[in-house]
Amino acid sequence: MSGVGNERLNCPKIGSACRSSTPDESHVWQAQLGFDLMSACADAIKRRFGDGGPSGDGVAENEFIHRVLSRKTVRRYSDVMPSDGLLDLLVAAALSTSAKSDFQQASILRVTDPVQRAAIGKLFPSMPWIGSSPVFFVFLGDARRLQRIGELREKPVRNGTLEGFFNASVDAALAMQTMILCAESAGLGVCPISVIRNEVEKVAALLGLPDLVFPVAGLCLGYPQSEGYVSLRLPRQVTTHRDRYDDSALPIVIDDYDRRRDELHAIPREQQRSNAEFGEAAFYGWSEDKARQAAKAEGAAFPPYLRAHGFSFD
Ligand SMILES: Cc1cc2nc3c(=O)[nH]c(=O)nc-3n(C[C@H](O)[C@H](O)[C@H](O)COP(=O)(O)O)c2cc1C
Repeated sequence: MSGVGNERLNCPKIGSACRSSTPDESHVWQAQLGFDLMSACADAIKRRFGDGGPSGDGVAENEFIHRVLSRKTVRRYSDVMPSDGLLDLLVAAALSTSAKSDFQQASILRVTDPVQRAAIGKLFPSMPWIGSSPVFFVFLGDARRLQRIGELREKPVRNGTLEGFFNASVDAALAMQTMILCAESAGLGVCPISVIRNEVEKVAALLGLPDLVFPVAGLCLGYPQSEGYVSLRLPRQVTTHRDRYDDSALPIVIDDYDRRRDELHAIPREQQRSNAEFGEAAFYGWSEDKARQAAKAEGAAFPPYLRAHGFSFD
């Protein structure tokens, strides 16, 4: 776990601080303690998927992987402000992420001005955590820097291409995910915020974003106020493939997933989407919810914004 936050972390199964160990050491240590620590990961996999799939048998205990398997998005935070030192550490870790061609096209903007925070929050009243979380970062795809470097070095860099956009987007997304995992390892809770792209003109104006720089997502961050729950993922039967892509089992697997997810966390009747259009569903599972959500296209403002701000997507 070195380099990912706390050196001393909670051991999942025994609930006390424990040290990292090499694979060899780990086996000895497990034997000394008299139980199989890997079963903690197997339990976490079962909770995450419940699909009867592989459980990582025979692999040495790994606290970091256990933490990732058990992670969850947090949208309610205590008033405690994470220290500047910790935030600096998280930013440095995020920027240590691998970057396409070493172009380093992610930028991170922290919104600290309360007036700006309130203005952004006001744009999204259905997600109050955007305005109220103790910390709010915006992860930016930054195709501008490379373009400027081309100008500095008098080379014909044209970075408003689809490749430039995609590379910058991936860099920013990877940096955000690195911050997410590091923040969670330090006891923080986070929520990525891509809804800011639905009001990209207004958000970009508030943040003073120049051409070729665009928001990939915001990130709310703070100490969790409540426990939350681990969200059941799709069965690995449809999300993993070996040698050849094969989704032939999709209908039956999705039905089963819907049923199992509903048993754990049913979507309340009053949260059914677009009933006027699609009618009230007797059984409203994950797939019905996602199909209804995706039927209403989101992000219409984003392509024209990008085209007006330096991207040709050639
Ligand atoms: C790129 C990205 C954008 C997201 N945007 C939002 C958002 O705008 N608002 C929000 O409340 N949650 C947002 N989320 C959080 C997802 O809803 C959440 O990850 C998903 O429901 C799965 O839950 P889990 O992370 O707890 O497993 C986003 C997540 C990602 C990865």
